[in-house]
Amino acid sequence: MADVKVLVLVGSLRAASINRQLAELAVEQAPDGVELRIFDRLGELPFYNEDIDTDDVAESVVALRAAAAEAAAALVVTPEYNGSIPGVLKNAIDWLSRPWGNGALKDKPLAVVGAALGQYGGVWAHDETRKSFAIAGPRVVEDLKLSVPSKTLDDKHPRENAEVAAALRDIVGKLTVEVD
Ligand SMILES: Cc1cc2nc3c(=O)[nH]c(=O)nc-3n(C[C@H](O)[C@H](O)[C@H](O)COP(=O)(O)O)c2cc1C
Repeated sequence: MADVKVLVLVGSLRAASINRQLAELAVEQAPDGVELRIFDRLGELPFYNEDIDTDDVAESVVALRAAAAEAAAALVVTPEYNGSIPGVLKNAIDWLSRPWGNGALKDKPLAVVGAALGQYGGVWAHDETRKSFAIAGPRVVEDLKLSVPSKTLDDKHPRENAEVAAALRDIVGKLTVEVD
């Protein structure tokens, strides 16, 4: 049987992003039969504008929607910016929400995790990302939660934190169980 594909979106474009490292860790420790793929072109998407959401839409948007269509589930890994969702991720949510009612992630299970500097690990951004995606079309799995205060990582790669690595592995496993 073909692997279950999981689209991974990262809400930070920073080269040394902790959230990107978390996403890479999720890819590394994917369960057997599951393939996680990071879509790393979110920075290339134009700002959402209905005027350009036409049959001739930008190639980066076509690529995002194709990656979403191929996937059976999605994992979103994001920091918090000013108490909310980083703009680059919100823009991707808006592109994925169209065509309205028939977006490429419609009804597919989606989990949100991430790390941020604050003591709550970005929980506001994570909650708002869940809220926004729930409106946009995917089926948000609300009880799959991981908000890592980045200080707990001690400036090391998240793979060196056994607790974080295990929690992430557990979430990916539970997310794929949600696939119809
Ligand atoms: C514009 C901006 C806004 C930020 N706002 C918050 C915030 O509201 N809460 C928080 O915990 N951290 C905030 N931070 C700190 C980020 O959580 C921290 O830089 C984190 O490492 C970014 O994720 P990354 O390592 O994946 O790039 C902010 C950082 C930036 C650059």
